[in-house]
Amino acid sequence: NDTRIRISARTKMIVHKNYSLKKFNTFGFDATAETFAEVNNEIEAKQILLSNKNKSIYILGSGSNVLFTKDYYDALFIKNNISGINIVRTDEQYCICEIGGGENWHSFVLYAIENDLGGVENLSLIPGTVGAAPIQNIGAYGVELKDIFESLEAIDLKTLETKVFNLTACQFGYRDSIFKTALKGQFLISKVNLKLTRAPHHTLKTDYGDLKKILAAKNISAPTIREVSDAVIHIRQIKLPDPKIIGNAGSFFKNPEIPVAQFESLKIQFPNIVGFKNLRGLDNLPNLETVKVAAGWLIEQAGWKGKRIGDVGVHAAQALVLVNYGNGKSSELMALAAQIQSSIFEKFGIALESEVNFV
Ligand code: FAD
Ligand code: EPU
Repeated sequence: NDTRIRISARTKMIVHKNYSLKKFNTFGFDATAETFAEVNNEIEAKQILLSNKNKSIYILGSGSNVLFTKDYYDALFIKNNISGINIVRTDEQYCICEIGGGENWHSFVLYAIENDLGGVENLSLIPGTVGAAPIQNIGAYGVELKDIFESLEAIDLKTLETKVFNLTACQFGYRDSIFKTALKGQFLISKVNLKLTRAPHHTLKTDYGDLKKILAAKNISAPTIREVSDAVIHIRQIKLPDPKIIGNAGSFFKNPEIPVAQFESLKIQFPNIVGFKNLRGLDNLPNLETVKVAAGWLIEQAGWKGKRIGDVGVHAAQALVLVNYGNGKSSELMALAAQIQSSIFEKFGIALESEVNFV
């Protein structure tokens, strides 16, 4: 019983009532939004916010990192379709691009590659929109959004003011930003400015294990930006399920960071445990050296890889990815996630935190 209302004669925006969100999350779980609208520009975004002042608001990009936990939301869901790629500034070495928050992330990566601009090639084929990329500071194969980030524009959902955030203001961390902490749920990111490097000046990052291996296997010793992108795409297509075929939201959990001493003692019991040292401390122990442990390894060792319970399960090629085979329910997936968390805590004394946003 979806009802459509055109909000004003001057906009093309359609507002839906009691609208199914099934198509708008890559897990493919169903839920109903009391109100739903897709916005194509900042004016439409402000209009719909203004006419729904007292409602709870939820912003959606492509829904590739959300888990709907309820059947019905008495809220306004805004799907961000703000488009456009503009070159703001360019010189001998750099090119600053301004990208609409609703642009598809991988389409922008392809645009960069076609124009010989470096910086986003390791982030090839990450699903989702450009506007969502800063939320968790997307990362892959040794690069994070923060490495090329210049600034963003965001609309305050309460005051409707547009605010600019620079790199420091975003407080980026591993799968983290101020938009997941202090300012959670308060802004709609409408534009993102990224600083890319012109090909001759660009230094490629090819140290990530799998990436190095695949380039070596292809006998590529001095790769181009495109060759790095192709290699990343190749690895991702082998390891990660395509959400168009099997419902998923990428890594369900974050890779946990634990103190070095805890890692050393786990290594005595589990000599093959996979972990990487980094100098960034745990949030509550800022100066301590920590180790980032591969959660996929922990989950695989605990016997979960490839396990299926009803229509949800743990992906057979990547244990960090939980999947919906088609008719699963989000409550079943949450129950599976909770079981995995307790089993990892029991076996390794490590608490896994989810990466996916519970809505
Ligand atoms: P959504 O899922 O729609 O939203 C995610 C969160 O951001 C929500 O909290 C939402 O409210 C908020 N949000 C979205 N858009 C806006 C906006 N414009 N303004 C304010 N808030 C907003 N992530 C990685 O970092 N690295 C990977 O390698 C990676 N691989 C993946 C592989 C697969 C197969 C899948 C399915 C996911 C993967 N992800 C990865 C996760 C996902 O691609 C990213 O988190 C992506 O940025 C989500 O974009 P989205 O537009 O789908 O956001
Ligand atoms: N591993 C296993 N078994 C598994 C999966 C992984 O043993 O089933 C071990 C292996 O030793 C492997 C190591 O874990 O070498 C790392 O695995 P992988 O390279 O696949 O990366 P990941 O740590 O599992 C992270 C990100 C991904 C990102 C890749 C590549 C997180 C939570 N996930 O996964 O991001 O694409 O690295 O950089 O940090 C996402 O965020 O949704 C996502 C897919």
